[in-house]
This record gives sequence, C-alpha cells and structure tokens, in this order.
Amino acid sequence: MANIILPPDWTIPENRATPPAIYWNRRSFVKKLGVGLAAAGVAGCGVGGGSGQGRNEGGGGGTAGPVPDGPLDTIPETPTRELYPGDRDPRFTLDRPLTDREVAATYNNFYEFMTDKDAVWRHTGPFQARPWTVEVSGEVDRGGTFDVADLEREFGLEERLYRFRCVEAWAMAVPWTGFPMEKLIRKVEPLSSARYVRFITFYRPDEAIGQREQDWYDWPYYEGLRMDEALNELTFVATGIFGEPLPKQHGAPIRMVLPWKYGFKSPKSVVRMEFTRERPRTFWSDLTPNEYGFYSNVNPAVPHPRWSQETEEMIGEDLRRDTLVHNGYGEWVAHLYDEEVMSRIS
Ligand code: MTE
Repeated sequence: MANIILPPDWTIPENRATPPAIYWNRRSFVKKLGVGLAAAGVAGCGVGGGSGQGRNEGGGGGTAGPVPDGPLDTIPETPTRELYPGDRDPRFTLDRPLTDREVAATYNNFYEFMTDKDAVWRHTGPFQARPWTVEVSGEVDRGGTFDVADLEREFGLEERLYRFRCVEAWAMAVPWTGFPMEKLIRKVEPLSSARYVRFITFYRPDEAIGQREQDWYDWPYYEGLRMDEALNELTFVATGIFGEPLPKQHGAPIRMVLPWKYGFKSPKSVVRMEFTRERPRTFWSDLTPNEYGFYSNVNPAVPHPRWSQETEEMIGEDLRRDTLVHNGYGEWVAHLYDEEVMSRIS
C-alpha cells in the first residue's frame, strides 16, 4: 500500500482553478516557482495532476529514453491496422463537437509515465505496446492468454463516439475503436460464481518511468467492475481512437472505456482480467477511499470532497458545460443502480 500524504484542505487542483488551455501556457512558469504538491510526495487523481508536480519530469529525475517525434508518433506498429477504424455504431451520437485529436493526445492521465498531463506522451518512448497479450482468469470456464491482434480479428472492430468525463471535471468527446466487452466475456464463459471483473495493468518499471520513480503508488494500476456493469452494452474494450490504433499515452494497445463513469474507472494498457467472487479493491479507492469510490458514476449532484462536479470543462474548448447524470448515458445504465449508489461516492 502506498504511503498517503493528503494535500491540505485549501488545495484547489490546478485543473479546476484554471481552464486547461490557460494552464498549459502557464505550466512552465509555475514549475519554475516550484509550486505544486511534489513536496507532499503524492498526487491523487485530481490532486493537482497536470500542475507540474512530478519529480521525474523533464530531465530532473531521470530521462525516460527516446522521446517520440510528436504526440501522434506514439502509435505502436499494429498488425491489424487494416481493420481500423471499423464501422461506426450509429446508436452513439454526440451532443457536442469532437475533441481535437492532438489536444486529446497531449492531455492524458497515465501515472505509470508521468503526472504531468501534457508530458505523458514524451515519456512513452521505451514502452513496448505490441505485441501484447491479455490473460483472462478466475471464475471462467475458458480462460487463457489471448493476443490482442487475435482478439481484434476474431471480434472485428467498431467505432463509437462517446463522451468521456474525468473525475477532475474535464471532459472530451472522442471516437473509440474496439469491441464490446460482452464479446470477450461470452468467449471465456464465466461461471455463475463470477460476480465481478478485476482489471490489472502492466508493471514494467524499465519502460515506464512513473512506475520506476513514483514508488509511493501501489503499482500496477488495478480497477474493477460488477459483472452486470461489465456486460453492459456500453462497456467497451478500446484498441483505437480517432480511426487508428491507440497511441501509447491513451493506453495502447488495449484499454477499457466506461463512458458513464469517471475516467479512472477505465484502466489503460490492461494485461489481466480476472473474474472474481468478491468485489475487487481498486487503485484510487485504496489510496483515498473518501474521494474515489468503487462505482464512481458521473453525477453532478455528488461533489468530490474538494470540488464541485456540477460542470465540466471540455478540453481544447474555452467552455464549461453542465455535467450530465451518468454522463448522459442513463438510458443504458440507470437501471443498474439504486439511489444508495448514486447518492454517495462509493
Ligand atoms: N489507466 C492507467 N493504467 N493509469 C492511469 O493513470 N488514469 C485514468 C484512466 N486510466 C489511468 C488509467 C484516468 S484518471 C483518466 S481520466 C483516463 O485514464 C484518461 O484517459 P486518456 O488520457 O486516454 O484521456
């Protein structure tokens, strides 16, 4: 378990206080001042992530190896490239413009590499994202270790336009490519005892500088879903974004996308899925249980203990929008939850 040092009450996360477009320009100045939570040792999701707090940023705490030429030069060589982007599923339409592709590729939460959102892609150089396998185990009849490219070929790929909302009150709207989680679940034939799915991401400190240098986090990142959530039509296994395979900073080569939940429930670069009887523990809940609960459904009525969730900032747009209950996906998921779940951070 990581050593937790909580920020003082008065801390306002940088990304709440300042619109993303402005603080991107301000970051280098803030860094020079040494402002941030670095001294505190720990950043929680939403605790100033993106405010220049990482002790391993730039050359200071060690370099991460070869730096990619640009934020879109981080797409690993993909043997299934001809399958992209897949046919678009017409059921999923947006009420807002798509986020600019480069903005999305330079504004990432991926603490395995870097807590600075705009520097994540720069540190992904050494990360070998393909070939890649996912092990499926636990309460299933036909588990195994599956090559991601084989899964893509077997299930086929489709494109979905989804809103995506981070707990830090920023949001984006992007086209994901991938397949419904339900296809993978049916393939492995869960036993009736399978009540939850646990996701585990990679542990490769040699390739991910954040894992190497931020040892106060309990790597690897781990998340979980209830079985009916995992089987929901919306639950998507993404292998691509914006019509191409996922760039490393978006979670290449395979990640989850749960558009009605806060973004930290969508683990990136998954290596293992385990079907369990018991509710799995989750990375952020273990660090700060009063801030990041197991369900963490998007809900404007339940504030984060340190900021409101009533509105959200669309990255790349100088605009705040009202937060939608279930991020606007209630039609698909509201029936899964009772009032108790929706009234608290649980
Ligand atoms: N998955 C891993 N493995 N590590 C992370 O730090 N951050 C989460 C989620 N999945 C995270 C992760 C958070 S807080 C968010 S908001 C989304 O990834 C961000 O996804 P994006 O950078 O592709 O927009």
